[in-house]
Amino acid sequence: MTQTYRPRRSVLYVPASNEKALAKIATLDCDGVIVDLEDAVAPADKVAARDRLAAVFAGRADRRREMIVRVNALSSEWGADDLRAAAACEPDAILLPKVNTPRDVLEAGDLLDDAFVPDSVKLWAMIETPRALLNIGAIAELGRDPASRLDCFVAGTNDLVKDTGVLATPDRRYLVPWLMQMVLAARAGGLDMIDGVSNDFRDLDGFARQCAEAAAMGFDGKTLIHPAQIEAANRAFAPTPEAVAEARLVVEAFAQPGNAGKGVIALNGRMVERLHLAQAEKLLAKVAAIGA
Ligand code: COA
Ligand code: MG
Repeated sequence: MTQTYRPRRSVLYVPASNEKALAKIATLDCDGVIVDLEDAVAPADKVAARDRLAAVFAGRADRRREMIVRVNALSSEWGADDLRAAAACEPDAILLPKVNTPRDVLEAGDLLDDAFVPDSVKLWAMIETPRALLNIGAIAELGRDPASRLDCFVAGTNDLVKDTGVLATPDRRYLVPWLMQMVLAARAGGLDMIDGVSNDFRDLDGFARQCAEAAAMGFDGKTLIHPAQIEAANRAFAPTPEAVAEARLVVEAFAQPGNAGKGVIALNGRMVERLHLAQAEKLLAKVAAIGA
């Protein structure tokens, strides 16, 4: 479960096989980076990409940005070695692809425990297969047990489209029911939920629209494939100035001596309950963490 708020508005995939892109990381204003050993790396480059991980993490100074490694599936020929190499870098998290069942997460956790990898190294799970969607409640439940290390779900929309045969449309109308199910399950498990990528990295208007929709659906942020997408994601998943102003009003109202101990108050003609206070405090903590 996420203890303190970590912004995950913009989480950029960087192929571990692309030296030029890796060199750019330090200059980018994204909340997180996923160094990818899986789908972005061709089979012939897998081993060289894995060997590059240590250099990517060497002298890592900026702890503000989360650094995650996406390994190949443990069932693949590269998975076990990827997991070992990733763990040795002590990233913020290791992202497991093609998770189908809770067992897939537990197995990876057991391997990390057996290798005495610090608890600070979390597990993230891609939700990108039909089986993961059918088992999502049970997978999310692991988030309630810190020993599982599970901390975050990432939607894998390209794989879902491929495996289900739904049509990918700009408004994602056939994916939305599954995306909403992911958000619900993540909340039930106390996990963060990051949306899938948008492949059309030159269409920034369409991208901004998709981010706004994802924020409305309850996602914490979006995975990105290109630096040009960072700014729109950071904007869309940050609270709006109106929401911040409203949250401050709610906190101030409950802080007034006359309202001490009250469960419900009236504010500008609206009912405001203590649950709204909790919501407002959470939003302001988020704003503080983002530094906006
Ligand atoms: N991370 C860091 N830097 C990136 C980047 C990324 N994901 N994608 C592009 N860049 C850099 C390029 O290296 C280039 O740098 P330069 O200005 O120093 O030359 C700059 O941003 C502009 O890139 P551009 O020419 O517009 O794109 P491209 O043709 O080089 O790359 C992709 C396009 C799609 C191949 C590339 O963005 C990419 O590999 N994205 C990630 C894909 C991925 O990880 N997929 C798996 C998860 S879905
Ligand atoms: Mg995938």
